[in-house]
Amino acid sequence: MNLLIKESAEIIKESKFTIAFTGAGISVESGVPPFRGEHGLWNKYNPEVLDLGYYLNNEEECWVHIREIFYDFFAYAKPNKAHEVLARMERKGLLNSVITQNIDNLHFDAGNKTVHEFHGNSKKLKCLKCGKIYDASEYDLKNIPPRCKSDNQILKPDFIFFGEGIPQDAYSNSFADAEKAGVCIIIGSTGEVVPASYVPRTAKQNGAIIIEINPEESLFTEQVTDIHLPGKAGEIMALLEKELF
Ligand code: APR
Repeated sequence: MNLLIKESAEIIKESKFTIAFTGAGISVESGVPPFRGEHGLWNKYNPEVLDLGYYLNNEEECWVHIREIFYDFFAYAKPNKAHEVLARMERKGLLNSVITQNIDNLHFDAGNKTVHEFHGNSKKLKCLKCGKIYDASEYDLKNIPPRCKSDNQILKPDFIFFGEGIPQDAYSNSFADAEKAGVCIIIGSTGEVVPASYVPRTAKQNGAIIIEINPEESLFTEQVTDIHLPGKAGEIMALLEKELF
């Protein structure tokens, strides 16, 4: 493992443009459960609560589960070592952007500046009637569902539900960076969710070296990964940090 860590650090140091592609796995050590796998949220909750069509017909029922999943768990989550090392890499010019599937805001909380949030962010609530956007912190979510202050419509969390399009800016910025990347570091993703999983594949097609951090194998490991560092994000990034700085 140590040789692979040293090799990965050399590759990152030589890279002219490096991106990180992160999934739910990077936030597990912050106490945010993953969606799939043994302790996955989808074992406990029905994903239909995040299906846009179902949500629009059952807002009050869905909000009960949405609050539990995305506001009770997330509210106390703090960035972990993996988030912190990515922020340090950006400050030191070794990372150009983070492309994340996560909606937990932890990359920004850790200090990263260039973060493309492919699935939106749970810290914002949107009125689907007048388009107004609110900070979730403006509402006491003990009382749900939260309603628009202008037209009393039920507010929707401003992250991407199944069946909903990817935010345009995040989409175009993510693929633009993937096309420029010399290195793409994948951290904690199964690679099952599309179109997000096309980002590392696009980087690969443009000649990037793919380094993957995940205790398990993912759909990326066989297909695009050049160096698989099998372990938890926080532990592996701590080892990498020692070689980078
Ligand atoms: N460090 C690194 N990786 C980890 C860790 C850890 N501590 N713990 C688990 N993992 C890995 C798992 O092995 C798995 O490959 O993280 C991955 C988590 O899988 P998912 O929960 O399916 O996350 P992801 O692939 O990012 O899919 C998340 O799915 O529900 C949709 O849109 C939603 O953005 C979300 C997307």
